[in-house]
Amino acid sequence: MSEDSQSTQPNPPNGVSRDTFEGNRMEDVPLQQIHSQLLREKEEPTENFSPMPLTLMAMCAVLIFWAGLYLAWYSGDLDPFRFDETQRGASGIADAPREIDMLALGRRVYNQNCVACHQSDGRGQSGVFPPLVAADWVQEESPDRIIKVVLAGLAGPILVNGNPYNNAMTAFNRLSDRDIAAVLTFIRTEPTWQNNAPAVTPEMVAAVRAEFGGRTEPWTGPELEAIHGPVTSR
Ligand code: HEC
Repeated sequence: MSEDSQSTQPNPPNGVSRDTFEGNRMEDVPLQQIHSQLLREKEEPTENFSPMPLTLMAMCAVLIFWAGLYLAWYSGDLDPFRFDETQRGASGIADAPREIDMLALGRRVYNQNCVACHQSDGRGQSGVFPPLVAADWVQEESPDRIIKVVLAGLAGPILVNGNPYNNAMTAFNRLSDRDIAAVLTFIRTEPTWQNNAPAVTPEMVAAVRAEFGGRTEPWTGPELEAIHGPVTSR
């Protein structure tokens, strides 16, 4: 294909617009004048003053205030040596007694130590891990038997709610008196766990630990029965 067959008009010499619609328009003198006039008279853009919406400022203020309250309530007095946010600060009074939410603490200790076997709903696993929900062992008036179970573990054949189990539970004597009291209070008093038994105090755990804390092998059902009698739900 030759150059000529591509276009009927040869390229114009330099500086001369092609005879096209576009070219014609660019050469339209009145149109160019109007354009330059428009460019000249156009206003310079300016930066306007627009205040931040009041509602946004109010929302920020409310958020900051709420953040302050949240810190004051849940930071444990910003004490770097307190690792337990459930222990509330006593609003500036240095040696006032600390208030501890035993149910919240117990739920946490449970989730960290017991869920693997007794499951998050506390119903255990049929034939393998006994239930803690609606369980005769948990419902006993005195918590001493299950304090021993948590401190040293439990192994061998037992009956829970009349169902046989023959497995082994590890010892948790590394947990503090307070943590053991909290987890047992949690499983005994949490309403949906249907045990409705009295709470357990750290002193009760300390008393059992003082007497039996040196024990290294797990308890057996018959051994506990020799001390506490058969398991009887209230
Ligand atoms: C390694 C698995 C395992 C872990 C972890 C575990 N348990 Fe157990 N638990 C068992 C087994 C197994 C038995 C029954 C032992 C047997 O058959 O002699 C049992 C028995 C019990 C019993 C008495 C029986 C009953 O069902 O009421 C209580 C109470 C109990 N565990 C509480 C706890 C608490 C509280 C924790 C957490 C601090 C915990 N267990 C952690 C496996 C475990």
